[in-house]
Amino acid sequence: MDLMELEATQDPIGLFRVWMKEAEAKEPNDPNAVALATATADGAPSVRMVLMKQLDERGFAFYTNSESRKGVELGQNPRAAMCFHWKSLQRQVRVEGRVTELPAAEADEYFQSRSRMSQLGAAASEQSRHLEGRRLLEERVLACEAQYPEEIPRPEYWKGYVLRPERVEFWVNGPDRLHDRFLFSRIEDGWLKERLYP
Ligand SMILES: Cc1cc2nc3c(=O)[nH]c(=O)nc-3n(C[C@H](O)[C@H](O)[C@H](O)COP(=O)(O)O)c2cc1C
Repeated sequence: MDLMELEATQDPIGLFRVWMKEAEAKEPNDPNAVALATATADGAPSVRMVLMKQLDERGFAFYTNSESRKGVELGQNPRAAMCFHWKSLQRQVRVEGRVTELPAAEADEYFQSRSRMSQLGAAASEQSRHLEGRRLLEERVLACEAQYPEEIPRPEYWKGYVLRPERVEFWVNGPDRLHDRFLFSRIEDGWLKERLYP
C-alpha cells in the first residue's frame, strides 16, 4: 500500500489487514506480536507482548491466563491499548478500546488447535505468580502430562479476549522525521479519519 492509498482509505480494519499481510511477508518472525497495555482500576499501567491471533468485526483477539497480571487488570478495568511495530516496514499501528472475553467455545477450539507442549505449558503455569524454581515448573508439566495422557482440557482460566477498536492510528516513517499519521476514531456509522502532526 502506498501513501496515496493510505490517504484515500476510509476503512482502518481493511488497511490493517493490508499492513499485516505486508508484515507477514517481511518480518523475520511473529508479525502478529503486539504490545498490550492494561491498567489497574486506579490507572497504574503495565505493558507486555502478546500474539494477536484473530481479527474480525469484533476486533483484535488474543489469548492468555485470566489470573495473570494482565488478566486481573482487565477484570478490574477493561480499557486497553495495543501497539504493533513492524521494524522491517518502519510502520506502527496503535489501537485503543475495551476488552471483552471471547466465548468459551472459541477458546476451547483455539486451545485444542495448539501443540500438546503449549497446552501443557498453559495448564502447568500459574502465569505471573511467584515461582520457587524452574524445577517446580517442570514437575508441574510432568504431572499434567501424566494426568492427561490424551486430550488436555482447556484450563478454565485460559481465555480468549477481544479488543474492540475505538481508535486506530497508522504511522509511517517519513523523510526528515516528517512522518505520516492517520487517526481513525469510531463514530456511530463508521469512522472519522484525520491526519495528525507527527
Ligand atoms: C513475542 C511474544 C509473544 C507473546 N505472546 C503471548 C500471548 O499470546 N499470551 C500470553 O499470555 N503471553 C504472551 N507472551 C508473554 C507475555 O509477554 C508476558 O510475559 C506474560 O503474558 C505475562 O504477562 P503479565 O504478567 O503482564 O500478565 C508473549 C511474549 C512475547 C515476547
